[in-house]
Amino acid sequence: MDFLTLFAIYVLVVLTCIALVCKYSGQQQTPLTTLFNFLAKVVGPFTPKCLQRFSQWSLHRLFHERNNMFIYLHILLEVAVYAEYTYEVFGFCREMDTTLTSLSVPYILLAIKTFFFYLCIKRDPGTVTKSNVSGQLHIYKYDRRLFHPGVTCPTCQFLKPARSKHCSVCNRCVQRFDHHCVWVNNCIGGRNTRYFLLYMFSVCAMAGDIALLTGDMLLHLVLQSGFLMASYIDEHGQKQPAGPLFIVQHLFLTFPRIVFMLGFLVFVFFLLAGYALFHSYLVLVNQTSNEWYKSRGYSCQHCHPTATADHLCNPAPDRSKTYFYSRGLLKNLGEIFFPPQAVHKKDN
Ligand SMILES: *[C@@H]1O[C@H](CO)[C@@H](O)[C@H](O)[C@H]1NC(C)=O
Ligand SMILES: [Zn+2]
Ligand SMILES: [Zn+2]
Repeated sequence: MDFLTLFAIYVLVVLTCIALVCKYSGQQQTPLTTLFNFLAKVVGPFTPKCLQRFSQWSLHRLFHERNNMFIYLHILLEVAVYAEYTYEVFGFCREMDTTLTSLSVPYILLAIKTFFFYLCIKRDPGTVTKSNVSGQLHIYKYDRRLFHPGVTCPTCQFLKPARSKHCSVCNRCVQRFDHHCVWVNNCIGGRNTRYFLLYMFSVCAMAGDIALLTGDMLLHLVLQSGFLMASYIDEHGQKQPAGPLFIVQHLFLTFPRIVFMLGFLVFVFFLLAGYALFHSYLVLVNQTSNEWYKSRGYSCQHCHPTATADHLCNPAPDRSKTYFYSRGLLKNLGEIFFPPQAVHKKDN
């Protein structure tokens, strides 16, 4: 089955790329840049200087400076999926008497998702500046494990509030910093984690819903066409029943775009659902991704030479499952949806 092998390889490559981008885009020394530096060393002597500089520059622009590339990519993928859905799946489903209501759900989800996507991009994640740092300092206590009092941000030149971090991409300190998300070209911090969560859940719902409608349609087509009963004559002249692989191959050859879209959607759904569940877990235990990484000792200055000054070289890995900032499930949820405002303390 040549095409299946090819298809599997393709899916694997895309999966690896997206996983790498998702996992490492917020960090400074990524496997991508390490790989790139290695390749640059190997092919360096044979390529012109200007080409080298250009590729280094573009990689830097892509991951270490704010830019809208991933937002455009996101919109492009969305347009492709919705065009395919509207022009092919919608028509087929209408012929099969799927109700208009269920066929319009993807468009409603699209509107909801776009709303949260917009909020993620536009809303301030909780930028800390010289003028409002004093109010931010008392929102959270220093846990004296990951965050210690008296640490100054070398770039912004003020005392870092507990749970804040300097985003090297945006070049600012962010309150309750979670991570820098390239897909929305913004930091995810105390004030927009709620939009980020809702955005992820709406993308999951969107991908899941279109995938279900498409899968349902293909299933109907298979059942109608009687493929399950079909058989073919193999090279020895024997009659063989058509297996599921045969059906998949037939569908792929008859509706290449639809099957391809379905594969993409299922993949996106599982990837994002996993990520969304991880973030929901973090919300429930009141931890940020930044703290999650740090408490597991994932960013160590020895292997991570560009790590920021606030970071501990060897934090004792936290296996105790006690979370310093956790105040119970409901309060933790409340903290995400109603972020605490600046507190001004007279004493201390
Ligand atoms: C601090 O001030 C900056 C600049 O005025 C503003 O963008 C930001 O939202 C403020 N941060 C908070 C947490 O209020
Ligand atoms: Zn800073
Ligand atoms: Zn950022």
